[in-house]
Amino acid sequence: MEKTVKLIIDGNTYELPVIVGSEGEKAIDIRKLRQETGYITYDPGFASTGSCRSSITFMDGEKGILRYRGYPIEQLAEHSTFVETSFLLMNGVLPTRKELNQVRVHLNDNSLVHEDMQDFFRSFPRASHPMGILSSMVTALRSFYPEYMSAEENINTTFLRLLSKVRTMAAMSYKISRGHKVIYPRQDLTYCANFLNMMFDSPVKPYEIDEDLVRALNIFWILHADHEQNCSTAAVRVVGSGKVNIYAAISAGIAALWGPLHGGANQAVIEMLTDIAANNGDVNRAVEKAKDRNDPFRLMGFGHRVYKTYDPRAKIMKAMCDIVLSKMKKSDPLLDIARKLEEVALKDPYFIDSNLYPNVDFYSGIVLRGLGIPTNMFTVMFAIGRLPGWISQWKESIDDPHWRISRPRQVYTGEKERDYIPIDER
Ligand code: ACO
Repeated sequence: MEKTVKLIIDGNTYELPVIVGSEGEKAIDIRKLRQETGYITYDPGFASTGSCRSSITFMDGEKGILRYRGYPIEQLAEHSTFVETSFLLMNGVLPTRKELNQVRVHLNDNSLVHEDMQDFFRSFPRASHPMGILSSMVTALRSFYPEYMSAEENINTTFLRLLSKVRTMAAMSYKISRGHKVIYPRQDLTYCANFLNMMFDSPVKPYEIDEDLVRALNIFWILHADHEQNCSTAAVRVVGSGKVNIYAAISAGIAALWGPLHGGANQAVIEMLTDIAANNGDVNRAVEKAKDRNDPFRLMGFGHRVYKTYDPRAKIMKAMCDIVLSKMKKSDPLLDIARKLEEVALKDPYFIDSNLYPNVDFYSGIVLRGLGIPTNMFTVMFAIGRLPGWISQWKESIDDPHWRISRPRQVYTGEKERDYIPIDER
């Protein structure tokens, strides 16, 4: 029998259906609430609101669990590649060898960016943030690939086109921002190796591909590939709900990711750690500032809407710092500060009581610095990783029989009706 809950409003009892997810998550179905009771719900930030049913990613914030299509993130990080994980997110199953090879061929076939697009890149001021450039360029892709994308085959083509071209555009924007020669993608390289090569190869100093660093980049992008209904994914779904083209929806996701409370936190963490380093490595001062409710400062890379324990991605990222740095024969003073900061914060009652732990961004910047990625490209790295999640969620939303245009209600708190006052009488 269908589970229901009773709601008593103004002395009247209403029975509301309950939706139970495959992991036992329960949601009260309030779709008819306003129609039947005249009431709406109030939930700023949507902390208690389920906006969709989704079979892509499962998170348990209390236990620190993250699974893509049922597979634990730890297993994917250990055994999978970013391309394979992207296929999994899009299609719900791991690819066969043949399917994976087909994906690789498509990625290679789509890796070039229209030559005219280089002119766009060159027109942005040198100091432009790469996230702004990326968001604009993804929207511009629509002009180059205007065909209507509704058929299954078309969506997969668009998915692979975006995955391949966004990587090329990211590396291209970096090269152009430095005034260096653009390096083209190579057919003989894998997805991640190709990216590193496009970033760091140069006519005067060939880049040597190191398989351990390629592996590290694979893991980095696997960890970012999806995270259910986060801010940028919700943006993709909301914008997509107006039946906008996929490029515009993804561009909205990129714009949402840019913010320091979301994907921009990886850049903000490095800026915070650099600041602490300049203040004699005084982590206690940063912790005290973060605790001060009159100070807007927050410990960047700490806290999460869903995780109330250690973010499972942060655990893997933390371990990767040492691997990447030792491989690059580098040490990073910011890693010592990050570790000290974590240690002090995790012993502090403020952080303990509020369940504030490191999130994925706390250590990710150190991994990226180790790989040689400049700080202003960090959030772009996150965006490339999140593409398969955004596209899978967009696809799921347009296939959803319950889907409607996103249009929340509000509680109006402004003036009641009043008469217009002529300008001379104000
Ligand atoms: N430092 C200090 N205090 C914090 C922090 C932090 N990093 N995060 C949360 N708090 C405090 C808040 O001040 C609040 O205190 P209060 O109850 O006294 O007002 C309490 O913890 C709850 O915080 P909220 O902001 O209500 O939590 P919410 O779920 O809305 O926000 C968020 C989550 C945005 C991630 C928040 O923890 C934050 O700002 N963290 C720093 C930025 C960051 O690392 N963002 C990356 C998140 S992961 C990702 O998007 C990829």
